[in-house]
Amino acid sequence: MRRAGAIISEAAAAIQFAVPDHSRPLSFAEIFGRSVPAEVDLGCGDGAFLTALAEEHPERNYLGIEKLFGRIRTGCKRIERAELTNARLIRADFAQVVASLLPAESIHVFHIMFPDPWPKRRHQQRRVVTPELFGSIEKALVSKGVLHVVTDEREYYQHVLKILKGTPLFESTSIPEESLPRSTFEQRFIDAGDPIYRVRLRKLPDPRKGFASQ
Ligand SMILES: C[S@@+](CC[C@H](N)C(=O)[O-])C[C@H]1O[C@@H](n2cnc3c(N)ncnc32)[C@H](O)[C@@H]1O
Repeated sequence: MRRAGAIISEAAAAIQFAVPDHSRPLSFAEIFGRSVPAEVDLGCGDGAFLTALAEEHPERNYLGIEKLFGRIRTGCKRIERAELTNARLIRADFAQVVASLLPAESIHVFHIMFPDPWPKRRHQQRRVVTPELFGSIEKALVSKGVLHVVTDEREYYQHVLKILKGTPLFESTSIPEESLPRSTFEQRFIDAGDPIYRVRLRKLPDPRKGFASQ
């Protein structure tokens, strides 16, 4: 017997993009059939945030990366219902994709919305926001590209700021609260009256390249 909600149409299934070749970087031109500025949502969950962004900005490409099959399936259905051609999902570990499959200097914005906080000290090594991830993100971002991290955990926010202190790769920049749609987890935390902590970082120009090429 089929579980309710287990059925997914071919069109929805096609929204999930399978990495064709792990030995070469992804081609956004192949995935989307066009080369325009791209944004990536790391741990995109059910795709609500990604879908809303893609609807608001048809002139951009949106890639969501999520490890859980059920959330990918929900995201595919959502993107299909919205009839979007500028949003695609990959089921994978996003740290691996960013480190080895995104072309250098290709992404305009990364979003990390409510990363799993792992608050217990003995679990903290499972946190996905690490200096290594920031390093891979910096390489994949275009010059002056943006990294956007949002969490409901004050301690996680401080963890992000601490990593930042140790890296000269980014500068902080402000983010107007209403400038982005709400993700599913964000709505849940706002409804519960929890505080939300936001970090918006801009990639600093590489001083080795000189000003003429920035
Ligand atoms: C707390 S949820 C937030 C979901 C969504 N960003 C939102 O704000 O509604 C964190 C998500 O990150 C995903 N995730 C955690 N680590 C991941 C990894 N290494 N690669 C891909 N997805 C990951 C989880 O499966 C989960 O869906």
